[in-house]
Amino acid sequence: NPEVFILAIESSCDDTAAAVLQKDKVLSNIVANQLIHNQYGGVVPELASRAHQQNIVPVIDAALQKANIQKEQLSAIAFTQGPGLMGSLLVGSSFAKSLALALKIPLIAVNHMQAHILAHFIHEEGFEKPTFPFLALTISGGHTQIVKVNDFFDMTIIGETTDDAVGEAFDKSAKILGLPYPGGPLIDKYAQLGNPKAFAFTKPKVPGLDFSFSGLKTAILYFIQKKKLENPNFIEENRNDICASIQYTIIEILMDKLKLAVKETGIKQIAIGGGVSANSGIRNALAEAENKYGWKTFVPKFEYTTDNAAMIGIVGYQKFLTGNFETSSVVSKARIQF
Ligand code: KG4
Ligand code: ZN
Repeated sequence: NPEVFILAIESSCDDTAAAVLQKDKVLSNIVANQLIHNQYGGVVPELASRAHQQNIVPVIDAALQKANIQKEQLSAIAFTQGPGLMGSLLVGSSFAKSLALALKIPLIAVNHMQAHILAHFIHEEGFEKPTFPFLALTISGGHTQIVKVNDFFDMTIIGETTDDAVGEAFDKSAKILGLPYPGGPLIDKYAQLGNPKAFAFTKPKVPGLDFSFSGLKTAILYFIQKKKLENPNFIEENRNDICASIQYTIIEILMDKLKLAVKETGIKQIAIGGGVSANSGIRNALAEAENKYGWKTFVPKFEYTTDNAAMIGIVGYQKFLTGNFETSSVVSKARIQF
């Protein structure tokens, strides 16, 4: 049957998103960002689930309209089962269940972390797909993982953060510097104008392929407090150099672990995903590693790398092909492994 249309719904954190895919092609990909959290410096779960409730119907309508698809044409509905904030997940899953029941079409549950990785399999002009096996580095405000991907649904987490996610490390550092939330993109912007070796921050000593970022945040806080005692204008006078040095340290931490992962697995294909993959430092470091170590790296189109529903849709399509469906009694899960 050539007419496979999947409606995908993502509501795991603070973005309400819906997409329509025709097989592995994205017809529409709509995201409503919840700006309300910015004033609190982080996501407030209660506010997130309320905003999802307000946004979900208009976002799904917009996705169907942009795709020029009637809901009666849909083949299946895919939704994010977890991991994520429970109140947020429930809004998406309840809506998906109701609509699938009403339309009498299959319901497909998707793991958000698998979706970040499988986003690389969305058909997109000018973007190459990795081949199995490959390593995935998923880096965002909520996640930091290195995953060995053997096949679509055969993957193992071989390293992950033991405390903060890398996006949090960027955002919390930015907060110390007085920058607004989310500060990751601003650190990146100033870093490009500064000297990455201006200030040295010690890297955490974590065995194996796991990460830790909370110590770095504390080191930056003490460093800034000390420097401000000597010179109250320290941040203003050194913003670019401070940002460049912080970014350099974070990228070094990521690259050290990636190099170890390549060494341990013998796999040189690296696919990145998550909001932090927009960072210029990681992109440059990966490009350099292609030349220096013969790696092949994959960076997806940006709209498929931050939280979005197209990535839920591509997993939905894969599960549709194998008839991997759920009943309405499927439950949302705040925490799930693969
Ligand atoms: O994937 P995402 O949109 O949402 C989740 O957290 O799941 O990622 C958002 C994170 C934030 O922490 C943000 O500061 C960070 O990605 N980020 C960046 C950049 N762009 C976004 N961090 C560093 N450099 C960037 N250019
Ligand atoms: Zn995510």
